Amino acid sequence: MAKSKTIYYCQNCGTQSATWLGKCNNCGEWNTFVEEIIQHGTQKNKQDLSVFQSVPQLISEISDAPISRIDSGINELNRVLGGGIVVGSLVLLGGDPGIGKSTLMLQAALAISNAKVLYVSGEESSMQIKLRASRLSQKNNLCYIVNEVNTQTIFSHIDTIKPQLVIIDSIQTLQTSSLESSAGTVSQIRETAAELQRFAKQTNTPVFLIGHITKDGTLAGPKVLEHIVDVVLQFEGDRNHGYRLVRATKNRFGSIDEIGIFEMMQSGLREVDNPSEILISQRDEDTTGVAIAATIEGLRPLLIEVQALVTPAIYGNPQRSSTGFDLRKLGMLLAVLEKKCGHKFGVKDVFFNIAGGIRTEDPAVDLAIIAALLSSSLDIAINTKDCFVGEISLSGEIRPVSRIEQRVSEAQKLGYKRIFIPSNNPKLSDNNLIKVIRINKIEHLLAKLFT
Ligand code: TYD
Ligand code: MG
Repeated sequence: MAKSKTIYYCQNCGTQSATWLGKCNNCGEWNTFVEEIIQHGTQKNKQDLSVFQSVPQLISEISDAPISRIDSGINELNRVLGGGIVVGSLVLLGGDPGIGKSTLMLQAALAISNAKVLYVSGEESSMQIKLRASRLSQKNNLCYIVNEVNTQTIFSHIDTIKPQLVIIDSIQTLQTSSLESSAGTVSQIRETAAELQRFAKQTNTPVFLIGHITKDGTLAGPKVLEHIVDVVLQFEGDRNHGYRLVRATKNRFGSIDEIGIFEMMQSGLREVDNPSEILISQRDEDTTGVAIAATIEGLRPLLIEVQALVTPAIYGNPQRSSTGFDLRKLGMLLAVLEKKCGHKFGVKDVFFNIAGGIRTEDPAVDLAIIAALLSSSLDIAINTKDCFVGEISLSGEIRPVSRIEQRVSEAQKLGYKRIFIPSNNPKLSDNNLIKVIRINKIEHLLAKLFT
């Protein structure tokens, strides 16, 4: 008879405790401890653990053949994975509900050519999936769908079908018979993910796990899941906008600098090859408060539109609101602007937004934000052919930014005529298609901005 034991787990961070606690000592969350029954596996399960034939080898004797990858049929997905799906890898795809995780994975299952795919869904019925598939343009006659949550049954299906790719939607619905706790609890997530990892490594079959995200944006279930998997992909975007970014936050087989960009359409996710053109709205020449920033997302240059609205504060407390950009950073930029240029933002409401539902953390957008704030405050439009790049320091200096050449050439490619850059960025190779204006202090921006 297997021995069973009760442990309390924090469902937020995975901390264990022998007794129930009201507040988690580790993450500080309240009421997150849930009792889970851990049934220690039988002898057979224990043997399963040592699946690797562990023979020590000299490092020089280990083959260094390049890792083999499968083309997922979706270029943007291949790009974030570092060039395709690595055989035997375990990939976690996380994102808010309704963002399009199931759609992306189903599209990959249908776009992959000449490979058997098993799509395991614990969330939607086969009919719902069929309905979704009929909206998508891709077709793969070797795509199998199964509604199942028990891992042992899933493995027996895998045995009969022998797929080259397995997709699990979602890890939170899976349940293993070796544990008694309910699906979605920390121990179930940990155990089922470990079983799938063993399967992936043993058979060289890549497995994709879809994972939900909690309120605060972290992957539900403990951090331990992120340690088990080889690749963690985050699916981001604003549900009200069509754009979606897939970003790798961990990748054992490639860089984490790449991003994939998609647009959600009636017929599923469309790959976006040239994002800058879509993210920038066509505006009139006299629109104030709008500036273009030349940013880098991952490894790709991306021109984005920043919008500011500065109005007199009617109510006592001036309002500050920011979408797509850190509010505290916006506060800092306003303070610098007030100190260095004498604009009294303390009596103004400031609303800030990045167009297209994009979020950015690239510090080089600072200069464009300052320009948009000045434009709205003074009610003078910025030339539609101007764009900006530069980080602002607390002293009001424009600090150099990385990959300036790439940013300038993207701006030039999209037909911009002037680009404002930090003056102490190294010299750029000359070209006469775009005029490079160098500035070193925020005070100097105003003198050149509206010329
Ligand atoms: P879904 O993949 O179900 O999200 P997740 O699995 O991350 O919860 O995506 C659902 C959303 O996508 C839903 O709001 C409808 C939208 N959608 C489209 O706009 N077009 C489509 O072709 C499909 C399949 C979904
Ligand atoms: Mg889903």
